[in-house]
Amino acid sequence: MKRFTYVIVALILFSGMKLKADEGMWLPMFIDRLNYVDMQKKGLQLTPEEIYSINSSSLKDAIVGLSNDPKPSGYFCTGEIVSSQGLLFTNHHCGFDAIQKHSTVEHDYLADGFWAMSKEEELPNEGLTASFLVRMDDVTDSILPMISDTLEGSDRKSAIKEITSRLKKAAAEDGKYNVVVKSFFDGNEYYLFVYQVFKDVRLVGAPPSSIGKYGGDTDNWMWPRHTGDFSIFRVYTAPDGSPAEYSEENIPMVPKHHLPVSLDGVKENDFAMIWGFPGSTERYLTAEGLNFKTEYYFPPLIEVFGKKLETWKKHMDADQAVRIKYASQYAGIANGWKYFIGQNRGVEKLDVVGQKKEYEKKFQEWVEADADRKEKYGNVITDIDDAYKSMADGITPLIYASITGIGGSGIIGYAQEYSGLQGMLKQLKEEKDKKKKAKKEENISQASEGMIEGIADHFKDYDMATDRDVFAEMTKLYYEKLPSDMQPELLTELYKKHDGDFYAIADYVFEKSMFSDAAKTEAFLKDPSLKVINKDPGFVLMQQFMANIMTASGNYKKGGATMSKAKRLYMQAMREMEPERYFYPDANSTMRFTYGQVLSYDPQDAVTYDYVTHLSGVIEKEDSENNEFIVAPKLKELYETKDYGPYANDDGRMVVCFLTNNDITGGNSGSPVMNGKGELIGLAFDGNWEAMSSDLAFAPKLQRTIVVDARYVLFIIDKFAGAGHLVDELTIRKTIPQPVRIETLEDVPIEE
Ligand code: ARG
Repeated sequence: MKRFTYVIVALILFSGMKLKADEGMWLPMFIDRLNYVDMQKKGLQLTPEEIYSINSSSLKDAIVGLSNDPKPSGYFCTGEIVSSQGLLFTNHHCGFDAIQKHSTVEHDYLADGFWAMSKEEELPNEGLTASFLVRMDDVTDSILPMISDTLEGSDRKSAIKEITSRLKKAAAEDGKYNVVVKSFFDGNEYYLFVYQVFKDVRLVGAPPSSIGKYGGDTDNWMWPRHTGDFSIFRVYTAPDGSPAEYSEENIPMVPKHHLPVSLDGVKENDFAMIWGFPGSTERYLTAEGLNFKTEYYFPPLIEVFGKKLETWKKHMDADQAVRIKYASQYAGIANGWKYFIGQNRGVEKLDVVGQKKEYEKKFQEWVEADADRKEKYGNVITDIDDAYKSMADGITPLIYASITGIGGSGIIGYAQEYSGLQGMLKQLKEEKDKKKKAKKEENISQASEGMIEGIADHFKDYDMATDRDVFAEMTKLYYEKLPSDMQPELLTELYKKHDGDFYAIADYVFEKSMFSDAAKTEAFLKDPSLKVINKDPGFVLMQQFMANIMTASGNYKKGGATMSKAKRLYMQAMREMEPERYFYPDANSTMRFTYGQVLSYDPQDAVTYDYVTHLSGVIEKEDSENNEFIVAPKLKELYETKDYGPYANDDGRMVVCFLTNNDITGGNSGSPVMNGKGELIGLAFDGNWEAMSSDLAFAPKLQRTIVVDARYVLFIIDKFAGAGHLVDELTIRKTIPQPVRIETLEDVPIEE
């Protein structure tokens, strides 16, 4: 009898939970008001103060935004502080660019991994920054009441900007902080974020790609997954603890908080929360907006990226040096390419357009039921739709021009970096005043000297033969896809001269332009001349591509002029229509948390995916012929001898990855996945194929976050790499097992 009641309770409790969608990327400052009670019910054991506090240290102080900008307004990934000496965990794919930059044929850290065995061996990364959130404030009331309701478009934008600049300046405390103000709910709310930005972030460890990127692009965005997607950095500060540029004097950061790491592992339905910097979602997009994406926006991206990848790959497969040079760019584009394909597929399969249409119908009915509402909101959906329709006309040329023209080949992108210098040379020529002329000359030689220093960096990751082929393929696409009034004059000329042979055009441009060759660019910078740069075919093409992009972007923007007002009103109306619903703001690269549970899923009829994968699965997938599925001999040996140390699961197996139903997106990569006690149980690193439309609509039954288990991370550091000194730095937690009573929930078959 007793047992039976337990079954009933368990069934109600757990089946309810299983159905509950854990949608939402919530703002830390509202945790107490909006989420805390719910989180507690689901398994959170910390107090709101322990999680988000601006007066004392709290969990949020261990969450880091990673960027390549000294004053970031967004973050490409998330990291978390895991030791009292500023040690930081993030994903391997987040550290990939840094690892690649340190790699050469002699030291191929991508292939072999990298482990600093002492702090002296840790590698600085120029430009990489780590931002810590000091506090966030709602500044809506400092902004919107000052803006007239009738103010729209660029006037509205600049009026808002004027106010936010003032707010930012006041909060920055003379440059001590980086302050960012962002719009939420499509301009209905504004929040200010104060960050401390640390600029000395060193690489400490990375597994070989055969672990950190196991499964490669084939497994990317997919479950079941077997990737050890982690890398390790350390944040350094000036001796007084303040942020500082790299210097030998710097010391490891003493953080306000670091996350303990749990060795307990996960069970299905366990509470899980994730903190980080999700980049962008468009969950409130209309059906027409979706159509815009899938019909006009994604297809050119998919086509061009596919061509680029194919061209790069030919060269990368043939030569290790080239493979290293392009590894990071390739990974980024390959990831995006598959993402766009997956989104298109997801939108269609999950009938996201149908869902939206249904919602819009309900919305319109609600609007029309009341005269005031009709007056205010009667046209918002059609206004949004009209804007999308006219944007659709402008988007295709804009995308092609951007990603095959300026963003097509390395030579054109590099030429663009010389625009500033060319502008200075032009001004010098026009200057009559002798004194001013001398000053300008001095500025030019200073700028050139600075650029000479950058040459080695640029050409370290450049291969002329590869780029020439990329140029040929990209320029060909440009020529084919864009109307004649958007063709650069020089391209038309070269097309005629070379009978439409784009490889011959490429040969000509690469031979004549200085931007394909380090020695030629250096010679130019030593004696910069306006005449020379103005005749350089790479530079001329770049300028002409640029002019066309400006035209295309003008057309595109015109189409969207009425969009922001309509979207603002639509959001306002939706919130009015559903006063009981907790709306969460779209992701915008600000700190968020999401909570849910460890959970399996059913990708298709008769198929269930378990919530964990194991090292045995790594071995199962091994394919010595395919470089995405190579298993390092050392890892095989550890598997064969079951030498898992304290990192094994209760059942003696080595867990590699697990799933949760948390709501994350790009930018969350590297985010800590924590249990109810705020202990690290894993690192979030991906989403799943069946729910790729998740940035446009949350899919409760299918959407999962893919996490690398913290124990696998520690196992690789300790047992595989022999870097146990890093594990010694961590605060490890392990629950001592309690004797199991017969009537505990674990005994109850809760699934059936
Ligand atoms: N899809 C992941 C993301 O966007 C990146 C995974 C990187 N791994 C890979 N095999 N490319 O965050």
